[in-house]
Amino acid sequence: MKGLNDRIAHIDGQTQLVGIIGYPVAHSLSPEMHNAAFAELGMNWRYVPLLVAPDRLADALRGVLALGFRGVNVTVPHKVACIPYLDSVTEAVTIAGAVNTIRIDASQGKLEGLNTDMSGFLADLAVNRISVGEDSHVVILGAGGAARSIGAGLARSGARIVFVNRTLERGLEIVEFLRSTWESCNVEAVGLDRLAEVSREATLIVNATSVGMFPYTDSSPWREGVPFPKQAVLYDTIYRPLQTKLMRDAERSGLRVIGGLGMLVYQGAAAFEMWTGKKPPIELMRQVCLQRLSQS
Ligand code: ATR
Repeated sequence: MKGLNDRIAHIDGQTQLVGIIGYPVAHSLSPEMHNAAFAELGMNWRYVPLLVAPDRLADALRGVLALGFRGVNVTVPHKVACIPYLDSVTEAVTIAGAVNTIRIDASQGKLEGLNTDMSGFLADLAVNRISVGEDSHVVILGAGGAARSIGAGLARSGARIVFVNRTLERGLEIVEFLRSTWESCNVEAVGLDRLAEVSREATLIVNATSVGMFPYTDSSPWREGVPFPKQAVLYDTIYRPLQTKLMRDAERSGLRVIGGLGMLVYQGAAAFEMWTGKKPPIELMRQVCLQRLSQS
């Protein structure tokens, strides 16, 4: 019996639940990362993956509220679609236009939408001692949700920010939005054909496209033949694989490179703190993710 008891997860009437709503969701590292943190702090909380098809999203959100969940993460394809079902959202959500974390106030029956992707990125920059200010020149590759969150997170710094995207119109839309929010921000958008010209003086290059992500690990969003600016730091928001082709190529050209693992960990840590009010064991969370990613 002893062996069996050791293998049975202890769940009882006091267990608090959180989880992640996505479609698909099986690949998510968040359950392991959060459950390890709960175990480390001796908390009777569990984090579960919740597979929710797009047409069941409204039911699922009502469901987690009714079931007394303390919160959920939200991932693809629900990050924008969930917003109409929430009772309130933070400024970061309004700016980024997306939610990745919901805090549930069961006593009031309310769902609050948060965006910890943006704060996760900024936290990881700080940990890596990268400061962005008026003298910085940031090139953001991409113009999807991730690029928008990162651009919004950096727009207040006074840095020059250029979005470089395959579809120019999407970049221009972000620029228009950021200018309407911070009139004086220094942002522009160009097509991929102008990458060489706008990246020459870059101090920070951020890949916010999905190009190079598993399983397409042989691709890179960097245009062939365009030289890497040696003075820049390259930050790839992709964490699977841990080292992308873009990171390898940039490193070979002498750039300092940083992968997306830190952003993943800090967005999770911020969600953990929002739900539990406790400081998460960040290093443990990083180790759990690192271990899983090194295996795949
Ligand atoms: P997310 O919300 O995760 O940022 P997204 O909205 O699908 O995801 O955005 C993905 C980004 O990767 C976009 O900037 C996309 O470029 P387009 O706006 O032109 O679609 C970029 N992207 C994806 N595949 C690409 C490819 N093969 N080449 C260049 N850019 C690509």
